[in-house]
Amino acid sequence: MASKIINEPGRTFGEYSLLTGHTGKRCTPQNIDLNTTLQNKPFLKIPLISSPMTSVTGEEMALALGKIGGMGILPARLSTEEQVKIVSDIKRQDLSFVDEPKTLWDNHTIEKALSIIQRHGYSTLPIVNKFREFKGIFTQENYWDSNSLETEKVTSAMIPYEKGKDTIEVVHNPSITVLEAKDILKKSRTNYLVVLDNQERLIKLAFKQDIDTIKVGIATDTYPGWQNRVEAGIKAGADLVVIDTSDAYNENIIDAIKEYKSKFNEPLCAGNVITYDVAMALLEAGVDMIKEGMSSGSICTTQKVKATGRGPLTSLLETVRARDEYYKRSGKYVPVIADGGITGSADMIIALAAGADFLMMGNYFNKFYEAAGPKLDENKKPTNDEMKIRYVETWGEGSMRARNLGRYGHSHRRTFFAEGAEGIVPYAGRLKPNIEKDMQIIKAALSNVGAMDLEEFRKIAVLELNSQHTSQIVSTTHDIVVR
Ligand code: IMP
Repeated sequence: MASKIINEPGRTFGEYSLLTGHTGKRCTPQNIDLNTTLQNKPFLKIPLISSPMTSVTGEEMALALGKIGGMGILPARLSTEEQVKIVSDIKRQDLSFVDEPKTLWDNHTIEKALSIIQRHGYSTLPIVNKFREFKGIFTQENYWDSNSLETEKVTSAMIPYEKGKDTIEVVHNPSITVLEAKDILKKSRTNYLVVLDNQERLIKLAFKQDIDTIKVGIATDTYPGWQNRVEAGIKAGADLVVIDTSDAYNENIIDAIKEYKSKFNEPLCAGNVITYDVAMALLEAGVDMIKEGMSSGSICTTQKVKATGRGPLTSLLETVRARDEYYKRSGKYVPVIADGGITGSADMIIALAAGADFLMMGNYFNKFYEAAGPKLDENKKPTNDEMKIRYVETWGEGSMRARNLGRYGHSHRRTFFAEGAEGIVPYAGRLKPNIEKDMQIIKAALSNVGAMDLEEFRKIAVLELNSQHTSQIVSTTHDIVVR
């Protein structure tokens, strides 16, 4: 007989509801912040991390997610050189010119502006008249703060350009250089500069990107030579190193954690874990962040072929239990990353309430334009035409396509078998508008509970398990034909 048989079933996020709490007057979504910390220092502005999967995180994903305050982890399946190049490119991004910015006409409706924002993810849209003369800037935030309706003209919700006033940073110099633009933006309150000619016509935009805020991480295995990969990645500017394995309860990994902590200062994350004991072993070995989950990933076939893994919420709760105990004992707070099976905003909210500090997702990010997987048209043929994209290819790191031997503990191709599937996911557009919407939903949930930030949310949230019957009633619409 097995040494232990647990008859309490493993749980997942969708089985729970979040109960409401007392909401104070100030606790509105606008005042709630989703900032996170690591080693007691500010870390990410939103708690989202993209999976180190070759179908998900390449340069475009890491950059787009980093820019809005999350973080991409570059897969260990990339070579050291590829990881270093991407990290260096990202760390060099501090200003970019947009030579042909997407513009709105002054007679366009707000509805049109919002659909452009939704499709392309631009946050700042310049408004011009038919002579291309600059009239103002449309931003979603400004629209939210206005009383305008979607059917009204964009001009009713824009930040107007008024000569001589400094609400919009403007320069009349079409041949302005990057260095000159940087100098102006350094002193400016805005993070964009509008470049006009002498007839007030729009030429281009420059955007300031605060390099300190673009975070990027690298994944590694612990096979001979891992130290060189880690050293090169850190030198290039990686903000986090992730020992990414499917099962971290392994002597080699515990040794690697100890060696890393004796050689490098950058924060180290290790995983994955699914039990209290493994979590505690990693905490005691010195990790700064811990990643949990197994068998719940969208492309994962581990349970199917190896019957190994755990319900994602149960695994998260056990990891959090170890973390909280370790914190009480040592005073060191180690954030937990919930990884696998988080399908959208509702799952994110339950995972954050259950004690996750960060959410790692593959499938969620795989659907966006910025994902590394090739894009397909309606006939499932490759396309680079954004208007024609309908699907994105996906594959697991343990699939035949990725063959990430290190993640699955194989030292030779001969012993390798697939623990991951290959497929396609429906295209969901650009990353930024989708994430902004989901962050608004998360803030609304925090407001329902009365929490001003994620730390408070973890402390005061109350979750309730639903019966299967209740789940059917509360987690989807019923008794209507959905249009
Ligand atoms: P998802 O967000 O549900 O798609 O889960 C993503 C997570 O699945 C990743 O962060 C990994 O932890 C895990 N994963 C990635 N590739 C594989 C695989 O091939 N087999 C099993 N798990 C995988």
